[in-house]
Amino acid sequence: MKKYKIAVIGGDGIGPEVIGETLLLLKETGLDFDFMYAEGGYGAYKKYGNSLPQQTIETCRRSDAIFFGAVTTPPHIQKYKSPIIALRRLFDLYANVRPFFSLPVSTQRKDINIVLFRENTEDLYVGEEYLIPGGAVAKRVITRKASRKIIKAAFEFALKNKRKKVTVVHKANVLRLTDGLFLNVAQSVSKKYPRIIYEEMLVDSCAMQLIKKPENFDVLVTTNMFGDILSDEIAALTGGLGVAASANIGSKWALFEPVHGSAPKYTGTNKANPIAAFFATCLMLKYLGEVQIATKIRKAIDSSLRNGHMTQDLGGDLSMTDFTKKVIDYYKHL
Ligand code: NAI
Ligand code: MG
Repeated sequence: MKKYKIAVIGGDGIGPEVIGETLLLLKETGLDFDFMYAEGGYGAYKKYGNSLPQQTIETCRRSDAIFFGAVTTPPHIQKYKSPIIALRRLFDLYANVRPFFSLPVSTQRKDINIVLFRENTEDLYVGEEYLIPGGAVAKRVITRKASRKIIKAAFEFALKNKRKKVTVVHKANVLRLTDGLFLNVAQSVSKKYPRIIYEEMLVDSCAMQLIKKPENFDVLVTTNMFGDILSDEIAALTGGLGVAASANIGSKWALFEPVHGSAPKYTGTNKANPIAAFFATCLMLKYLGEVQIATKIRKAIDSSLRNGHMTQDLGGDLSMTDFTKKVIDYYKHL
């Protein structure tokens, strides 16, 4: 049996909590994992003066996959750099893939099956800002190369998974050069996929349509910040941030994480929903080729929710740890 080397970065707040629960679930799969624990985030910054220590980078470099919890970004330290943004750029994890689907819980909308592809390495997230007299300026970078990679990834996914439509989300009517380029690349890439319906949508209109008719969306592809914002919006339609997971894929490395942050409100309360981290692990297992185990975990979560066993954010009454126990129980009986 292959041994999978997984770099595990719990991070801050509820990050290590939901990751800890997920490792309990992973231990039930019978797969052979080498969990290589590494530090990152505000905790690491306070300890080492660095939110992403070199040793953590080295551990990630040796991994088959990186499993990341969540980190806190202290608003008062201007020079602080978020390790997740650094990891995405350092390992060229250019595709942030976020699947959203309806779950058997009362807080969700029906018939949602959306996969959002968010460019992960540039846009305003290059983090270059400077002061000018009376204001501040931020740099927005959109390159042909990175745009082509993310748009191609979205179309290839659509093709492989028999999806019907790819919607490109942009604001090219205002950002004529940057989003104009993104749109131009999308138009050219789309021509190679004649069987997939190609659609363009302005980001503001998309934000409204997602609330009005989320069932009309299939695959979305967009730039970094629009993708960041729209993914929290779509998460709200499928049960909230407690259930949204993402894969950050590059050509050599991949990182899997819940979409949510460190949720200080829930830290230490045993109330966080670990499903987002569970689903992140399903994406990781699929990436590693363990599709059957991923499907089994999905089924165990589904069974638990169908029987009303869930955490408070979804309207249930279970603590994080009791919910994990339930899911493990369902998993064992599948
Ligand atoms: P957040 O995602 O931590 O929380 C937003 C809301 O969702 C809160 O009401 C929270 O209680 C709820 N929530 C989040 N995860 C949940 C879970 N597993 N179960 C139940 N409810 C959950 O975002 P927020 O509050 O804006 O930011 C908190 C910190 O996290 C900040 O320092 C921010 O910079 C950081 N952050 C980190 C991210 C990452 O590590 N990838 C992503 C987003 C924010
Ligand atoms: Mg976000």
